[in-house]
Amino acid sequence: MPPRRLSVVVTRRLPERVEARMAELFDCHFGPADAPMSADEIASLLPGADVLVPNLRDRIDQALLARAGDRLGLIANYGMGVDHIDVATARHRGILVSNTPDVLTEDTADMTMALILALLRRMPEGMALMKGDAAWEGWSPTGMCGSRIAGKRLGVLGMGRIGQALARRAAAFGMQINYHNRRRLRSETEEDLKARYWESLDQMVARSDVLAVTCPHTPATFHLMNARRLKLMKPEAVIVNTSRGEVVDQNALTRLLRAGDIAGAALDVVTPEAEGNPRLRELDNVILLPHMASATYEARLEMGEKVIINIKTYADGHRPPDLVLP
Ligand code: DGY
Repeated sequence: MPPRRLSVVVTRRLPERVEARMAELFDCHFGPADAPMSADEIASLLPGADVLVPNLRDRIDQALLARAGDRLGLIANYGMGVDHIDVATARHRGILVSNTPDVLTEDTADMTMALILALLRRMPEGMALMKGDAAWEGWSPTGMCGSRIAGKRLGVLGMGRIGQALARRAAAFGMQINYHNRRRLRSETEEDLKARYWESLDQMVARSDVLAVTCPHTPATFHLMNARRLKLMKPEAVIVNTSRGEVVDQNALTRLLRAGDIAGAALDVVTPEAEGNPRLRELDNVILLPHMASATYEARLEMGEKVIINIKTYADGHRPPDLVLP
């Protein structure tokens, strides 16, 4: 008898090629639309599922996991961040969790660097001037001046894969690289990245011209950039966040930006995800993007490939390569 095909519930439409490959390999139930499923919809599909493929818009919490059937053995997240999944409860119930590291590192680092450039060189304002109603009167010696990138001190908060990929880019632009991380990097890696470690996040924040938030969102990093720490930033400094909105106290940031106590912010992520903080939208010194730092065709396909490999490995009775530990 051929081995039983795994029943896989995918909460949302994925790139066509990924869906086609998944459908060849597994019995798949794909979300009907490119919109998040409700918790009830997911729960109603779980009892017959061996594998769940959620994404960052789904809340896979204790309540939902309690409604899973005994069959569910793997949550193969389509994405890197797993802050929407209660990994500890899943583990407790014998459910493995995997994610998709590496394949979105370069693209996310590109976007973080692009945001630094856009913010310091005032690109959105320049574009608004050229495309808006007011007539541009041509070049002027004092027009549209921003800040030079070379020589600026970059503080990288979270020196994992993405932080390191950003450091390489920023060093090529002549920035001075500083970082704070849960664990200090090996000295060879520091040398390679030309990065200086700061044990004190406060001290690094106070000395940075640009603060880049690239750490994962966990209970330990929630509001790591709280009001007190944001206030340590120099008034001419800017903050860039391509991690999760929750790492920065968004209300405090809004107040400080409004008061001119922080010069600018570029945020690929806000909280709540689909609403953001409407007050941020009113501020000229803020660039807002719709969580698109990893949005390249290549990354989204490779994320799908990772999901497939994780499921196949699990189906073959082995540990998925991208297992997430609680
Ligand atoms: C992830 O995979 O966690 C990213 O934030 C998606 O862009």
